[in-house]
Amino acid sequence: MTSGKYSVAAAAAVALVAAASWIYFAASGSQGPAIRVNAHDEAQLLHGRAIYEQHCAACHGQKLEGQPDWRTRRPDGRLPAPPHDDTGHTWHHPDAVLFGIVKYGLVPPYAPVGYSSDMPGFVSVLRDEDIAATLAYIESKWSPRVWKAREEMLR
Ligand code: HEC
Repeated sequence: MTSGKYSVAAAAAVALVAAASWIYFAASGSQGPAIRVNAHDEAQLLHGRAIYEQHCAACHGQKLEGQPDWRTRRPDGRLPAPPHDDTGHTWHHPDAVLFGIVKYGLVPPYAPVGYSSDMPGFVSVLRDEDIAATLAYIESKWSPRVWKAREEMLR
């Protein structure tokens, strides 16, 4: 009896913590972290390029071209790394979402619970400034056409 009560209480506590962190996560996702992504800041671009080459290029490509057939799931059900240039869909997302994906990986609220992906979360590897700089570098490669389309889309 007692152990039964214990496990119910424990389960309730776990559910509460899960709910609380979900709310925190969703809130920080919607408000956006206090990050500065500036594709015209030379210092940020230089730093971002170094981070990109060290931590992202192996999957997303030296020239941001992504992996071949990036829209087709592999036999293990996972997607290849998409390009970050004009041909991909990175530019469809606001900076706060891109930041969250790079920091935490494809976990809720950026993907469904239990989603399986090769995209790592860099929370214990990169500082927030590093992630912002990497995004600035990626964004500096977009054409004026994509910049305009993005602005309209996110308005
Ligand atoms: C081990 C391979 C790997 C590494 C390293 C990696 N990624 Fe990814 N990334 C992926 C894969 C695979 C996906 C797509 C996963 C999916 O959609 O299921 C992805 C998706 C993304 C997305 C969301 C898709 C989009 O374009 O909207 C962003 C943003 C991203 N990666 C940025 C980065 C950045 C920045 C780095 C370096 C700091 C990085 N990735 C390092 C494999 C990787």
